[in-house]
Amino acid sequence: MIDQAESLRKQLMSSSVQSARVISVVSGKGGVGKTNITVNLALSLMKMGKRVLVIDLDVGMGNVDLILGRRAPNHIMDMLQHHLSVWEIIEEGNDGLHTIAGGRNFGSLALVTDEMLEHFIKQLEELETFYDFIFLDMGAGATETALKFILSSHEILVIATPEITSITDAYSMMKFIYKKDSSLPFYLAVNRCENEREGRDTSARLANVCKQFLKKELTFLGMIPLDQTVLESVKKQMPFTLNKPASEASRAVFELASKYAGASQKQKASYKSFISRLKSFLSER
Ligand SMILES: Nc1ncnc2c1ncn2[C@@H]1O[C@H](COP(=O)(O)OP(=O)(O)O)[C@@H](O)[C@H]1O
Ligand SMILES: [Mg+2]
Repeated sequence: MIDQAESLRKQLMSSSVQSARVISVVSGKGGVGKTNITVNLALSLMKMGKRVLVIDLDVGMGNVDLILGRRAPNHIMDMLQHHLSVWEIIEEGNDGLHTIAGGRNFGSLALVTDEMLEHFIKQLEELETFYDFIFLDMGAGATETALKFILSSHEILVIATPEITSITDAYSMMKFIYKKDSSLPFYLAVNRCENEREGRDTSARLANVCKQFLKKELTFLGMIPLDQTVLESVKKQMPFTLNKPASEASRAVFELASKYAGASQKQKASYKSFISRLKSFLSER
């Protein structure tokens, strides 16, 4: 573990200074594919030469490591409760992706105290200059602590499916976030689509309500088809873009990754650091 921590640190220290873009991946309802899309999008961005970290913030129900077929010895609550360094909990698998596990034995993010959050911030401060993208894979809905992380990120990736319940929940989530911070950019990916049209219709419906009621743009990144290979890959504990790179779902995620990398590049200049945003939210307590 320590050896790995040392080598990670060295590897990252040698990289040029950059400031990570922090993306919260959210939905209203659970089970819409947030974790699968986050992990596969992260792997695709990595293939494009980006440095990526995925933090599983579905604390207590974490499954980022399950999908990747990893067994992380330490997870985020270990770091917070035992004051570990972040280097001790970052895992690097054979696929090269860096992850922080959410763990499955602890309650929820609600257990995170102010003191733990301060430790978290100190640890993250080190990471910000080493990654291009830091994904926060959130649980369903929004607890008070989860909301702090969401509002601290630079942008929001909303995952919805064409089901009416998912559409209304996704909108509620966006409205909730928008009311706290109207400036956060919203991106949308529509998962589990039977066909392209379903994806476009779902995105149009959500974009319309956002425009009408929130006066807010929603950038549609693309749709991911309902694809049996996703299910098979979850069972095999291998991300579908690695297990079946030629599948429809994988091709859709590769496309999503290049669209996303392009779209968010345009906004980069105006980013305030994740840490300073998080600090300002904490001081509002
Ligand atoms: N595009 C898809 N096609 C088929 N099944 C999918 C797809 N996306 C997700 N699933 C199924 O939905 C389940 C839940 O996905 P997951 O990524 O864990 O959702 P969330 O993180 O939003 O709770 C997966 O285990 C998989 O079986
Ligand atoms: Mg999940």
